[in-house]
Amino acid sequence: MSVASIALPRILRIGAGASNQLAEVLTALGLSRPLIVTDGWLLNSGRVEELSGGLAREGIAARVFAETVPDPTIASIDAGVAFLKAGAHDCVVGFGGGSPIDSAKAIALLALHGGAMADYKAPHVQDAPGLPVIAIPTTAGTGSEATRFTIITDEATDEKMLCPGLAYLPVAALVDYELTFTKPRRLTADTGIDSLTHAIEAYVSRRANPFSDGMALLAMRAIAPNLRRVCADPMDAAAREAMMLGATQAGIAFSNSSVALVHGMSRPIGAHFHVPHGLSNAMLLPAVTAWSAPAALSRYADCARAMGVADETEGDQAAVVRLVDELAALNRELDVPGPAAWGIDAARWEALVPTMCTQAAASGSPANNPRIPDTDEMAMLYAKIWAS
Ligand SMILES: [Fe+2]
Repeated sequence: MSVASIALPRILRIGAGASNQLAEVLTALGLSRPLIVTDGWLLNSGRVEELSGGLAREGIAARVFAETVPDPTIASIDAGVAFLKAGAHDCVVGFGGGSPIDSAKAIALLALHGGAMADYKAPHVQDAPGLPVIAIPTTAGTGSEATRFTIITDEATDEKMLCPGLAYLPVAALVDYELTFTKPRRLTADTGIDSLTHAIEAYVSRRANPFSDGMALLAMRAIAPNLRRVCADPMDAAAREAMMLGATQAGIAFSNSSVALVHGMSRPIGAHFHVPHGLSNAMLLPAVTAWSAPAALSRYADCARAMGVADETEGDQAAVVRLVDELAALNRELDVPGPAAWGIDAARWEALVPTMCTQAAASGSPANNPRIPDTDEMAMLYAKIWAS
């Protein structure tokens, strides 16, 4: 048996109020000059002031860079690096959804190692660390607080660059579900489906291992019964708590296994058409699952059972049918549009499909899928979700 290579944040604080422990965690790590990397929405909401105020009370002065953008671009990262260098910082705190945390990782890396972000895209693997990153997620979604990846968009080519390596693994993550109560319904649904996709893909991946399997199954058990609940009632604390835990577990799972075809095909949709990440995953998840399942029937059947949609005694084939039905039902109930209904121009979609197939394959993620597609098969799947 091959050796599973597992890597985790050194410190995980999980639960209500965990984000209030930032000063204590920084001190435990011997860090004292943080740059908080966040976005304008969190700045305007007063949340950033709460965070930096808590640090100030403990004698830690933080500077704030709030110019991150959704689907962070090379230019936005370069601006962050310049801002960081204008201060004297020994660590970077990523505070927000996946975009601020991914930005924090990239800024922390370039601050120490220099070069251009494109130098670090896959297949390059960057293990030598940059400045330490402490992640505080405010969405239950990307799992970026626990992963060894960052995703940065090259705005010149509209490519979402997957940058892998231990350099991107936060040294600490403060996972505080109380930060998620104010997430709007659309964001709650999209980020929740992203987490579910991480768990399923980590479990069916060719790089799955017993450690990642355990985390993936726990994540599915946490997410599946609670996704509809948080969308129906944003103040459902027990459901929010389960979703936040599940998102981090799913992040740990795929960081130590991989994502697969859904993510491979989803990134180009996001890059070219600016569809939010979780939403483009959701558009693909039922069709890609149905296409991939014959190659790993028992693994997908395990997913159905972990999600509670198939009986333990039910056969694999029947369980997988229920899984695909459930994923389609989730999309319907959470109002996930297809690409056409989302407003994408048909001619532009058609013209970009070959590029999207090439970029998906180049990311390496489709090669981790239990059924590995060629270009024609990916084009067929893009066509299928267009018409869905
Ligand atoms: Fe994702």
